Amino acid sequence: MALILKEVNDSNWRECSDLHLSKEEQKYISTNVYALAEWKFETESIFRAIYSNNELVGMLAYYLHDGEHGYFYWLYHLMIEAKFQGKGYGEAAVRMAVEETHQLGITEIRTMYTPGNIRAQNLYKKLGFEKIGTLDGGDIFLRLVK
Ligand SMILES: CC(C)(COP(=O)(O)OP(=O)(O)OC[C@H]1O[C@@H](n2cnc3c(N)ncnc32)[C@H](O)[C@@H]1OP(=O)(O)O)[C@@H](O)C(=O)NCCC(=O)NCCS
Repeated sequence: MALILKEVNDSNWRECSDLHLSKEEQKYISTNVYALAEWKFETESIFRAIYSNNELVGMLAYYLHDGEHGYFYWLYHLMIEAKFQGKGYGEAAVRMAVEETHQLGITEIRTMYTPGNIRAQNLYKKLGFEKIGTLDGGDIFLRLVK
């Protein structure tokens, strides 16, 4: 599997915004369109388009948190287009994003998932993320330190 992360830019953002999830999974994250719109105003985020053999299969985004909760990258958006799921792309993409954050000099990355999102739960467990808390609404906070 030749997976690579590419910058999201003016040549691929429309294609990224066309990626979609099953109805069941749409409740777990905001749409790519929303995430890209937010980026217009919260410009510190790093967006990555996920390609397998030159085909766009997903998108992720993270930003550097430097505040009262510490200093870490926050992986807040991750999705693999419905028809490309279950092929190892999500796992490989997160591994690559973690590697990128290491190259940027940060050894901790945090994320969260909604209870019931078994795919995300299993994925993050497999990657070695550990639970560090639960939000009032039930969302599970995780971190990976390497
Ligand atoms: C979560 C998501 C990114 C996983 O991507 P993916 O490419 O389908 O996952 P992979 O094929 O790389 O699988 C990696 C691991 O995830 C878990 N996983 C993937 N599909 C699964 C399924 N159908 N059931 C249970 N666990 C699953 C497994 O642990 C798997 O490892 P394994 O194959 O050794 O069992 C994808 O399902 C997705 O986009 N979901 C909707 C958006 C979302 O929930 N994003 C995360 C928000 S926190």
